[in-house]
Amino acid sequence: MMWYRPDQSLGQGAQAHLQVRNLSAGYGPVRVLREVTLEARPGLTVILGPNGAGKTTLLKALNGLIPRQGEVLLNREELPEKTHEIVRGGVVLVAEGRQLFGQMTVLENLELGGWLVNKSERLRRIEQVFGDFPKLKERANQLAGTMSGGEQQMVAVARAMMSAPRLLMLDEPSLGLAPKMVDELLGIARRIADAGTTVLMVEQNVKKALAVADRGYVLERGQIVASGDARLLTRSSVVLEAYLGADGTETTDARDAMQRRKPQSTT
Ligand SMILES: Nc1ncnc2c1ncn2[C@@H]1O[C@H](COP(=O)(O)OP(=O)(O)OP(=O)(O)O)[C@@H](O)[C@H]1O
Ligand SMILES: [Mg+2]
Repeated sequence: MMWYRPDQSLGQGAQAHLQVRNLSAGYGPVRVLREVTLEARPGLTVILGPNGAGKTTLLKALNGLIPRQGEVLLNREELPEKTHEIVRGGVVLVAEGRQLFGQMTVLENLELGGWLVNKSERLRRIEQVFGDFPKLKERANQLAGTMSGGEQQMVAVARAMMSAPRLLMLDEPSLGLAPKMVDELLGIARRIADAGTTVLMVEQNVKKALAVADRGYVLERGQIVASGDARLLTRSSVVLEAYLGADGTETTDARDAMQRRKPQSTT
């Protein structure tokens, strides 16, 4: 895979390192995230946690969709607060639910992802993306809304790559997909990270996500309760007790996860 990389003259040559310190965010008076501190180094970082933990809220705050408090640095520079400035700064979110334009073709959806650049550069990036996603090239003129869930998720990721992000944020890219498509999407996330775009990914497929990630965090009730190297996290008590049953079965149900987890347990 040869992902397009932003050129050095934009000052975006260095691989992205996101540092989040004491981030709080929520909706109106309701504070969901409480002083969250984490980082996404070059590579793939996964955020795990039960339903309602605040995972999407975290990505929304980092993408400027909701106000934030605390410090957010990208390569040691304060991340802007407005979404369009964040995107210009090379940070893109593939939101839950994909948000494609269903009545537009795959190609048109990709073109929209390249709105920041001129036509010739946009065409260059489309060729690049088609090279990386040959399946999408075959479907260039299909209406996005008529594609399968997995294909649509692929279009959403490809569209995000059209802006040549330094940091790609994915909110549950495998949601609702069959196991084979889950593997394919997580594999794509891994390859994007290997090609030099830092990836911060929220996932509920705990085992599979930790298998492709470099590092991970577990978020519960708006706070980080465990973090570390992905391989070590797989064996941490928080993850084992909450998300991977003793019999190896995986649960993603919030109440189930809470019940499985003993109170006060940490890594
Ligand atoms: N627009 C909103 N207005 C008010 N509260 C919200 C809004 N969106 C989310 N919340 C609340 O914020 C909390 C965290 O939600 P969030 O969507 O971040 O969780 P999540 O970890 O992404 O869960 P899931 O795994 O189900 O996607 C929940 O209690 C939710 O009800
Ligand atoms: Mg969510």
